[in-house]
Amino acid sequence: MGLPRIMVVDDADELGRVAADLVTDAIASTPAASVVPATGRTPMKLYAHLAARREAGLFDTTPVTAVQLDEYLGLANSDRRTLFGWMDRSFLQPLCIADERVIRLPLDGDLDEACDAYDRDRETRGPIDLAILGLGENGHLGFNEPPSGSEAPTRTVELSPMTIAANAGYWGTEADVPTRAVTMGMRHLLAARTVVLLVTGERKRSIAHRALEGPIGPEIPASFLREATGEVTVVVDRAAWGDR
Ligand code: GLP
Repeated sequence: MGLPRIMVVDDADELGRVAADLVTDAIASTPAASVVPATGRTPMKLYAHLAARREAGLFDTTPVTAVQLDEYLGLANSDRRTLFGWMDRSFLQPLCIADERVIRLPLDGDLDEACDAYDRDRETRGPIDLAILGLGENGHLGFNEPPSGSEAPTRTVELSPMTIAANAGYWGTEADVPTRAVTMGMRHLLAARTVVLLVTGERKRSIAHRALEGPIGPEIPASFLREATGEVTVVVDRAAWGDR
């Protein structure tokens, strides 16, 4: 455990390249890595770089297992808004990760029970090797909405008005954003061997500083990354961090 390494880069393009170097190194050292690939806009350039490197034969993703971070509730599998669909288009397909190497979140049946079972299974598999995360404007990781403690389990959540407003940008309007979701718990993200947190844009400036420099606590779930057990690197662009 140590403080997060903070890498300030010029812009979102450089962030994609720098993050691709970090992810390539992490997978080179653990070829059969379990990887949590966040959706959201921030990691898309990173995933495009990874796909190009794989295509060029620089990088092998065949043994990688992808572990889903979060998902809306109440959507049909075929709905254009599923986060699984977004992960599939941006990460699984471009990196040729086979279906049997994907661990999805529970979406059916008694979800409290299914999430407990998911967490028990997660414990037996051991820590995630690499979590690629974005930062919510309210400090969430995945859909671990504030307040979320460091031990928060995998569970269903109500999305906050701020998250619904932010997610409206993906799908159209706020009415297009489901109000409930399931998220991998904080406990698994904080136990990851390596975490790469990606932050871009001026809209994230306030929350980036609060998460990395303010009080650590459930009101800013991402602040717990400063107490995480693994190696945490934050790649942040100047718009999100400022010039200092
Ligand atoms: C979303 C997702 C997160 C994502 C974050 C940042 O609500 N639940 O998984 O990392 O918020 O999204 P973006 O990268 O689009 O700013």
